[in-house]
This record gives sequence, structure tokens and C-alpha cells, in this order.
Amino acid sequence: MSSVAPFKPAANFAKKAHINTQAEYQKLYESSINEPENFWAEMAEELHWFKKWDKVVEYDFRKGEIKWFIGGKLNVSYNCLDRHVLAGNGNKTALLWEGNDPAESKSYSYSELLSEVQKCANVLKSNGIKKGDRVCIYMQMIPELAIAMLACTRIGAVHSIVFGAFSSDSLRDRINDSACKMLITQDSGVRGVKQDIPMKVNADTAAAECPSIEKILTVRRTGLEVNMKSGRDIYWHEEMDAADAECPVEEMDAEDPLYILYTSGSTGKPKGVLHTTGGYLVYTSLTHKYVFDYHEGDIYWCTADIGWVTGHSYIVYGPLANRAITMMYEGVPNYPDYGRFWKIVEKHKVNILYTAPTAIRALMKEGTSWPEKYDLSSLQLLGTVGEPIKEADWTWYNEVIGKKRCPIVDTWWQTETGGILITPLPGVTATKPGSATIPFFGVLPVILDEQGNELEGAAQGYLAIKAAWPSLMRTVYGDHDRFIQTYFARFPGYYFTGDGARRDEDGYYWITGRVDDVLNISGHRIGTAEVEGAIGRTDGVAEAAVVGFPHDIKGQGIYAFVTMMTGVDADDTTITAIENTVRKLIGPHAKPDKIQFTPALPKTRSGKIMRRILRKIAEGNVDQLGDISTLADPGVVTNLVDQRQ
Ligand code: WTA
Repeated sequence: MSSVAPFKPAANFAKKAHINTQAEYQKLYESSINEPENFWAEMAEELHWFKKWDKVVEYDFRKGEIKWFIGGKLNVSYNCLDRHVLAGNGNKTALLWEGNDPAESKSYSYSELLSEVQKCANVLKSNGIKKGDRVCIYMQMIPELAIAMLACTRIGAVHSIVFGAFSSDSLRDRINDSACKMLITQDSGVRGVKQDIPMKVNADTAAAECPSIEKILTVRRTGLEVNMKSGRDIYWHEEMDAADAECPVEEMDAEDPLYILYTSGSTGKPKGVLHTTGGYLVYTSLTHKYVFDYHEGDIYWCTADIGWVTGHSYIVYGPLANRAITMMYEGVPNYPDYGRFWKIVEKHKVNILYTAPTAIRALMKEGTSWPEKYDLSSLQLLGTVGEPIKEADWTWYNEVIGKKRCPIVDTWWQTETGGILITPLPGVTATKPGSATIPFFGVLPVILDEQGNELEGAAQGYLAIKAAWPSLMRTVYGDHDRFIQTYFARFPGYYFTGDGARRDEDGYYWITGRVDDVLNISGHRIGTAEVEGAIGRTDGVAEAAVVGFPHDIKGQGIYAFVTMMTGVDADDTTITAIENTVRKLIGPHAKPDKIQFTPALPKTRSGKIMRRILRKIAEGNVDQLGDISTLADPGVVTNLVDQRQ
């Protein structure tokens, strides 16, 4: 826990904030909890509805049934674009795009974005996409990615975005799981020093084993020559040139699916998290407005990749619904050098910066000379997401980047929650470095013990949420039972987050990390089971167990314990082979940082791997192994400790 006194919002920030007194927060929070129907009806009025809802909410966690704004009709692209243009704001900037190459940037006004989205929606339609069809998007951070998403929402197609670093095998599995009809990609990608990420090649490899794919729509980003299969493959620019400029919007039911996004869990294959239309847009726009205290004209930059949920909710949907100026960056923090983020802040006069602790650590390690080269005086508010932030990193962010003027919002949430659940409100909440602080409106967090009892006051245990909020996921695509089992079975009547947390005497929440076998590598969620499965498919490998260990930059690193088949010796080529298999089956971001070969894994007599012991060894806490007497062969441990990497 932090020893420093809480940081109060600076007076001149608080003065202009949407919510700036504790009393106001309290009043709104209480009304959101005590009269959720009234509260959310009022908040939903901010959006445009073709037809108002008949009932605000109905849910039953035990059955995994959640419905918001029942009977309401709306369209996401209409709310994010048409509405603003019709109100006379078409010439205002919607999207700023900064290329990987510092010489490249672009901007789109709301009218321009609307016109691109209408054309793209017509391209989808003329290629057979209808309401309810799934469209997979596998791209890097280029404007066409946002255009494609909004085009899907315009005609009621359900997008499933696959992060551009995933391998063709991962792409294939995700396409097949939700039977996508179309795949949208780009010729190749540029990201940092990588100038030729083979997007279309990966798309082709995946599509060869995806019977549902009828069309591949390819954006020309680099001009690389790619294979175009006749009858299946079409170019974005050719189709867009020929497309009609106007496309009417589909009136969607509030509970119609909006998108699927795959995320890793503790077991099995990644789950297709399904979000729906009305509740998601109400919640993401509301949180974007209040958490980032967004005011008209503010330049807002979320550095996440749209391949993850943060980019969906807080680069595209929340900000555009609020008519924000939202920025999208194609590259990485250290290209061409460690000053890039700060150069972008100076160039675009960014007011609100939302990034991840892993990026802060990577930049902090290079010293203060990089940020000192640039004018950061436009910054007014800083945000973080993805993992707990350490006090030293928070302090650097606050002092070196925010110059002690900018409140920091540490926002806790998940792919499943759709939007931010625990966070400071920057004009009100005194922050404590490392704490995500207090619940947002409508959110009722609880700390549970092992038996599922709610703990009162200062306590530590499992973090669960006691009531539904509008942007909670609605199901695991194609597997509703898995939805119930994963989130509602362990603690009946609650949504279980998979995180542990502590609540202090002021009611502030401190997330302690995952309590399941999910790793958080540079803010990316990776299941240990997925990595183990991949390593296990390397020639000669008999078995693998994967755990996390503390890593200076990534937060957590991947430590793999590997047993070879009898008679097979491991050498340097085995390590390369393991790395290549993981890269092929998942993607480069899941490559183990450390591999330790061992003749055996520590197992109980019933054959269960004792991960607790492996975690302690990986962390270097070999004096805390605890009771090892239940192991089938305690001698295994001595060898593991001796050979630690
Ligand atoms: C972790 C990302 C501490 C947490 C939006 C959660 C955090 C998982 C924070 C979800 C935070 C996210 N402080 N931990 N501010 N934000 N996490 O689905 O373990 O990629 O369960 O969503 O990240 O990761 P996901």
C-alpha cells in the first residue's frame, strides 16, 4: 500500500470538471444504485433512439441473462456520426491519425468519416453482408480499421476484430468459431522497425482453412504485391471508388449483437465475448465523458491497439458518441526513438492521454531527457489501464509527464465489462498511487471470501460485482453455458471478475491481480493453458507448465517449465523450436521469456501440476515453497530449484 498522502485534484482542473464536488458524485452514485432504472433512463437520453425502450433493465445472473433498454431501437454509427453531422458539426474533427512514420498523419472531420463509413457499408452490402453476419477484421492501426468497424455497425453486421500480431492459426480459429463471412485486412503492416508485417499472407493462410469466408477485402497500406484470389479477393480502394455515397442505417434492437472480441481465460480456447448495442454505447460514452472529463475540442489520445477492448470502447465508440477528437497511432512508443509519444503530444497538442503501465515503464527506463525535449503543456489529464501501476511509475507519470498538474485516472475494467468500472473521477476523487479508487456510477463491487461471503470494510479477497451494469457482456459466442460457468457459477448471484482486490479503510479498491491462470503480459491477456498447449506441440516436448514471474517492463513475463520425451535431449535448437511453435500457434507476444527444462514437473499423487510451487520458483522465492509433502515425488523440487533460470 502507498505511504503517500492522497493527491487532491488541482483546483483549476476541478473548477472546470463536469463533476467537481464529492456531494455531487455521492448523489449521482447513490441514485445510480438505489434507482438504477431512473438513473440509466436519464443517461440513455444522451443518445439518439429511433424508438425508446419499454423497460430499462432485466437480469438474472444465475442464468447469465442480461438485458438493457429492452425494446429500444438505435444505431451505433448513427449515434457516432450522422447525429453530429445533422446537428451542424460535420466540419469538426473526428479522427486524427498519426502514422508509424513521423512524417505521416491524417485527419477526418465528422462529415468525411461519415462519408467513408457509408461507402464502406455499401461495399459490405454489395459483397453479401447482411444484418447479423459476422465480419472479421484483421488489421494494423490505420483509419480504415475504424471505418470498417463503423460500417459494420451501420448495417448491423457483427465485427470480430483480431489483434494484428496474432498468427494465422489464431486468426483461423477465431474466424471459424464465429463463422465470419468476410475478412477485412491490409496488404502488409508497418509498426516500429517492422516494415512488412505480412497481414494478407496471414489472412490467406488462415482463410484456406475457413470455409465460411466468402470475401477478403484488402486495404492497400504499403503497396506490397499480394496474391489476389479471383472471385474471393477484392481491393478496398477499388470497391470504395465504385460504392454509392449514401447508405441508410439499420435500426438495431438495443440487445442486437454489436461485436465479438476474443479474450483468454484460464482454461480452453479463447472465449468470444459478445457485446450488444444499446447498453454498451450508453455506458462507454458516459464513462468516456466523466472519467476523462471530456469537453468539446479536447484532443484525446488513447494509445491502445483497437485489437483489444480498450481501443474498441475508448478510441472508437465512447469518444465518437461524444463527438470527441480521438487519435489513433499506428506505431509503437519507441519508434523512431523513445521521444515519440511526447513528440506526438506536442505535435497534436494532446490534452488527454490514456496509456498502460507497461508503456510508462518502458519510457521511464530511458530517463527524463526524452520527455524534456518536448512541450507537454497541452496535457490536462492522464489515464492508465491494463494492470496495477506501481507507485514509482505513477510518480514518474505524475511528475515528469503531468508536471503535477494533471490528475491521473487509474481505470480498472475488463474485456467482459465493456467499459471502466472502478476509477477516480478526475475533478473529485483524491487519488492514491496504485489504487483504481472507487466505483463508477451503477457499479456495485464487493469483496468476497473463499466461501462467497461479502466482506465489510477494509478487506481483501475476490473481486465480484453485485448488480448488472449496461455494458456487461451478454454471452460467450456460441457457448452460453461457458458464460455461466466462467462468470456466475463460482459465486452465485455475482459477476466474478477473476481478479483479487483489497479495499482500504477509505473504501478504495486496490487490484491485486488475477486469481486464475491468466497472465498479463505487457497488458495483454494470455492464458497459461494456451501457451502450454502451444509448447506441447513442439517436436520432442512431452509436457509443459507455464506461470508468470515479475518482469521489469512487461509487468509479468512468461516462464515455461518443459519436460522432453524420454530419450530426447533439449538444446538451443529446442528453445528456438519452442519459440517458433508459440509464434506460429499464437503470436510473437506469447513467446516465453524463460524456458527451464526439467526431467519432471511437480505433481500431486493424483497427477495435478502444483503451479503454486512453480510460481514461487519462477518468482525466485524458493524459500517460500510451503508444504511439498503432498507431491508424488518431492525430489523433483530440489532439481527445479537448482536449475532455476
Ligand atoms: C487487469 C483491459 C489493475 C485485471 C481493459 C483485469 C487492471 C484484466 C487494471 C483485464 C487496472 C485492467 N489495475 N489491473 N487499472 N485494468 N487490469 O480484458 O487483471 O485485456 O482482469 O481488459 O487486466 O484485461 P483485459
